[in-house]
Amino acid sequence: MKAKLQMIKENALSAIHADNADLEQIRIQYLGKKGELTGVLRGMGALTPEERPIIGQLANEVREEIEKALGAKAEAEKNAMLEKRLVEEKIDVTLPSVAAKMGKLHPLTQVQRTIEDIFIGMGFSIAEGPEVEYDYYNFQALNIPENHPARDTQDTFYITENILLRSQTSSVQARVMEQQKPPIRIISPGRVYRSDAVDATHSPLFHQVEGLVVDKGITMGDLKGMLETFAKTLFGNDTLLRFRPHHFPFTEPSAEVDVSCFVCGGKGCRVCKNEGWIEILGAGMVHPFVLENCGIDPKVYSGFAFGMGVERIAMKYYGIDDMRHLYENDVRFLKQF
Ligand code: DAH
Repeated sequence: MKAKLQMIKENALSAIHADNADLEQIRIQYLGKKGELTGVLRGMGALTPEERPIIGQLANEVREEIEKALGAKAEAEKNAMLEKRLVEEKIDVTLPSVAAKMGKLHPLTQVQRTIEDIFIGMGFSIAEGPEVEYDYYNFQALNIPENHPARDTQDTFYITENILLRSQTSSVQARVMEQQKPPIRIISPGRVYRSDAVDATHSPLFHQVEGLVVDKGITMGDLKGMLETFAKTLFGNDTLLRFRPHHFPFTEPSAEVDVSCFVCGGKGCRVCKNEGWIEILGAGMVHPFVLENCGIDPKVYSGFAFGMGVERIAMKYYGIDDMRHLYENDVRFLKQF
C-alpha cells in the first residue's frame, strides 16, 4: 500500500507539473470522492491495527503534498497570466494625447455675432421677428403697397395671399414700433428669403441685420456717426464711409453706404473689384409714413434705419468668392474660420 501511495503521489505531481495541466481535472482524479487517493483510504479497513496509523499518516501526507502542488501551480499560473497582461496591456502615459475634436461657430454666425457685439456696445438691444410674416409688416407698413414696383426686386415665397417668408428684416421695424414707444434703439438679425436662383452671389435664403433708432431730434448726422463707428470697429480705424443717394420706400432720404476697401485701402484690388469701395448696407431716415403707420407722430419723432447683408459682409471680410461655400457644409472649407 505504501508503494501504491508513492505511485499516486508521483503520478499526481508529474501530472500537475506538466505543461497545460488541467488542475481541476487532476484534483478530481486524485483527491475527489471517487479519486485514487480516496480509494486507497477506503481500503484501509483491510489493514492491521498497527499498519493503519502509518498508512493513514502517509496518505494524509500524500494528500497534503498534492494539494500544495495544485495550489502552487494555480498560483504560478495566475501570476504568469497577470505578468502577460501587464506586458501586453502596457500604456505609455508619456505619449501625446489624441486631441479632442472641437467644433466652432459657422463663419456666418461669427460675423453676425461680431456685428451684434458692436451694436450692443453702442447701447442697442436685439429684437426678433418671425420669418413667416404678414405681407403687412414685410411690405405695406414699410410704405410698399400692393403693386409697388419695389416688390418685384424682393420677390419672395408666398404661403397665402397675405402671409409670406419675409424678404427683409425691415419687417421687424414695424413690429417694434407698434409695440414700443420711443426712444427705440434696436438691431434685428435673422434669416430672410427671396425667390432668387442660386449662384455665386445669390441664395434664396440669406441673413440680414436690421437697425432702427427712433427718438426726438434724430438726424442724418446721428446715422452717419453711428455707421462710421460701426465700420471702423469692424474693418479698422482707417475705414472711410461713402453715402450714395438711393431710393428705399421706407426711408427718406435714403442712401447706399460703402466702406473704403479694407484690403487695399481704396487703391483698387480684387476684393473691391478695383473700385476702392465696398457696398455694405442700405440706410436712411425713417419715412414719416412709416412712423405714422406704426402710431408714432412724425412731427415729434424722427429716426434712422439701416439694413445689411451678413453673407456679403462675411464674404468680403474673409475673402470668400462664392456664397455657395457658406451653405455646403464642407468641413475643409469651414475649418479655415
Ligand atoms: N431692407 C433693405 C433690403 O433689403 C435694406 C435696407 C435699406 C434696410 C434701407 C433699411 C434701410 O433699414 O433703411 O434690401
